[in-house]
Amino acid sequence: MDKIIVKGGQTKLQGEVEIEGAKNAVLPLLAATLLASKGEVVLTNVPILSDVFMMNNLVDHLGTSISFDQEAKKIIAKANSEIKTTAPYEYVSKMRASIVVMGPILARNGQARVSMPGGCSIGSRPIDLHLRGFEQMGATITQNAGYIEAKADKLKGAHIYLDFPSVGATQNLILAATLAEGVTTLENAAREPEIVDLANLLNKMGANVKGAGTDTIIIKGVEKMHGAKHSVVQDRIEAGTFMVAAAMTQGDVLIKDAIAEHNRPLISKLSEMGVNFTQEETGLRVVGPEKLKATSVKTLPHPGFPTDMQSQMAAAQAIAAGESVMVETVFENRFKHLEEMRRMGLEVDITRNTALIQGNSNLQGAAVKSTDLRASAALILLGLVAKGQTTVRRLSHLDRGYYKFHEKLKALGADIVRVKDEDGEE
Ligand code: EPU
Repeated sequence: MDKIIVKGGQTKLQGEVEIEGAKNAVLPLLAATLLASKGEVVLTNVPILSDVFMMNNLVDHLGTSISFDQEAKKIIAKANSEIKTTAPYEYVSKMRASIVVMGPILARNGQARVSMPGGCSIGSRPIDLHLRGFEQMGATITQNAGYIEAKADKLKGAHIYLDFPSVGATQNLILAATLAEGVTTLENAAREPEIVDLANLLNKMGANVKGAGTDTIIIKGVEKMHGAKHSVVQDRIEAGTFMVAAAMTQGDVLIKDAIAEHNRPLISKLSEMGVNFTQEETGLRVVGPEKLKATSVKTLPHPGFPTDMQSQMAAAQAIAAGESVMVETVFENRFKHLEEMRRMGLEVDITRNTALIQGNSNLQGAAVKSTDLRASAALILLGLVAKGQTTVRRLSHLDRGYYKFHEKLKALGADIVRVKDEDGEE
């Protein structure tokens, strides 16, 4: 595998950066293509990421033929009159998001058999809310030899209250409800922009989904679904990561076509820290101050501060003036990057889900390992400002969600290379 070497301390990032389509949008969109029984679903603005390749393989295995034109960032998903019922271990085990094929398979075949999913190590991440929702729609759920099996002669619309606005459960239940008999109401649903993107595609495919983006989503079941064309929404987390990069390096970076509305909580916190934002015709300009101010952040479901920006924000807090607080309420085990940051001189006290971060302008570069996808970006960002050289390993995490991250940073002036790690692991 490769490693990234960053030489930090001086770089002020400058220039423009283009943002890809959202990984967390395109994965459920690919699952949605399984719902069409005829025609082609054409997705554009598709990010070139290892998670997308994995989902392509799974959906293709299940029966919707996938062709990915990487140069055009376009996927053509050709519907099949029949799809398979089993999502096997080898396709599912590496990516938790693959559980969202369960809704479409169950809706089309009246039964689904999906291997229990894997994914980032950021907590136990159960799927009880997905399964309880399917049960309320009339499915019987069993677990057998590492597989979850769901059966329902015909799914029936139901009134489902989610105990927590889970993104994955909301997506899976919307997908299942599109072809169910009658009306499904999801209460306390997730409101993330990726949910809205999914509903938009489904409606183009002939579904009837209303209320996405609010906490109550109403889905009227339809008989059949067909092909459609759709451009994947911009990746707010990639955009946010570059906002933090500019903030940390006294940079001046234009995030092209940035959708500020999708990043309100982050922009608000960074502004509090002294970062300047200007909406321009071609995007959002982000200018970092000489010294960031300390701040308190608590992650929450959208429209709260996103957990997927927690580690990058912690990197910014690590160099701010004074003590900052980070509270993680969405995942119970998402502070592993702070341990790695300690290797760079960070002083942090962690009690349960709360980290007290002491800002330090004398962090030193070190050898560190990515502990999950967003952690990998955060460690690279800290490497940009730490003195000396930082080597970041376990880049398989980075490749799941960031396209050409080091090249984009290099184009903004960072001293960064990605090289083969001859004697390193993974
Ligand atoms: N939860 C349950 N039961 C469930 C489902 C979720 O208890 O049935 C809990 C989880 O354990 C977790 C919390 O609810 O503590 C949030 O989980 P959610 O279902 O909302 O997350 P997800 O669908 O598994 C998506 C993103 C994550 C992102 C979260 C939260 C995708 C593919 N993944 O995961 O993205 O952190 O929503 O916003 O959309 C990332 O991109 O780095 C990433 C991890």
